[in-house]
Amino acid sequence: RKKVIIDTDPGIDDAMAIFVALRSPELQVLGLTTTFGNVHTALATRNALHLLEAVGRTDIPVAEGSHVTVKKASKLRIASFVHGSDGLGNQDFPAPTTKPVDQTAAAFLVEQANLYPGQVTVVALGPLTNLALKIGQIIILGGAYSVNGNVNPAAEANIFGDPDAADIVFTCGADILAIGLNVTHQVVLTDTDREKLEQCDSKYARYLCKIMGIYYDYHKDAYLIKGVYLHDPTTLISAVNPSLMTYTEGVVRLWSLDCVYNGGFSLMYWFCRYGEITAWTGMLTVKVAVTVDAPAVVELMMQR
Ligand code: BDR
Ligand code: CA
Repeated sequence: RKKVIIDTDPGIDDAMAIFVALRSPELQVLGLTTTFGNVHTALATRNALHLLEAVGRTDIPVAEGSHVTVKKASKLRIASFVHGSDGLGNQDFPAPTTKPVDQTAAAFLVEQANLYPGQVTVVALGPLTNLALKIGQIIILGGAYSVNGNVNPAAEANIFGDPDAADIVFTCGADILAIGLNVTHQVVLTDTDREKLEQCDSKYARYLCKIMGIYYDYHKDAYLIKGVYLHDPTTLISAVNPSLMTYTEGVVRLWSLDCVYNGGFSLMYWFCRYGEITAWTGMLTVKVAVTVDAPAVVELMMQR
């Protein structure tokens, strides 16, 4: 089984991804590490613990991550308008009774990496603050390959959340796979899928149906679609069954910090098609997902 650590800011689609992981015999979930993004880190930790309690998987450790960006900024972009002020669809869930481990997310990641050298896959579903080390593989929901971002044309939310952290992680030399919006915007859990999920006799499905309303509302308003994008579950599923996507080498491209202040853009990475920018041959590349078998990803998510 593939050993995975999920770095996450739960988050409705994070909850979906975590549940898919827990239900996937291909994976051994070593732990959840938390980050800010959809909510602040303290709430991300609370939500991670709550999700594990809700499905009886408190055997899995949760390690709390950084509360600030790598440059110590505490003014963060928090996406409560997408996931609810509690991050889980405004459900007023009770406080968890379990506690995170007495170790930071970074320390937990290093410990597990030393325990299982070269064998750990990190699936990163939030800003990349906790990850500045070499590990087996890092699969990142981040960026966009030849399409616009979702915070602004140049920036996807998880890169926007801590661009300096993305800078460190994308250039750290680890085996990196980036799943961007070009792929995840093709993977939609439709209203019909939602109805099917509602009929499901499963504690995982029941939980997700409970929290999903606000996520559907947001997508209807913001994207005019009848369904929700499966960003984080698709990313997680690339660890479960890599053959559901095709990949290429993408050039890591950096926008200048000037853009942040002068143009309203974030310093960010995005991924360009190799051939278009021959002048950049020799620049750093990472593995990028280009196509996806969307129905198969949705089906796997529904199954699990
Ligand atoms: C990413 O941002 C968050 O809202 C989602 O959980 C996902 O990880 C999409 O850009
Ligand atoms: Ca996320």
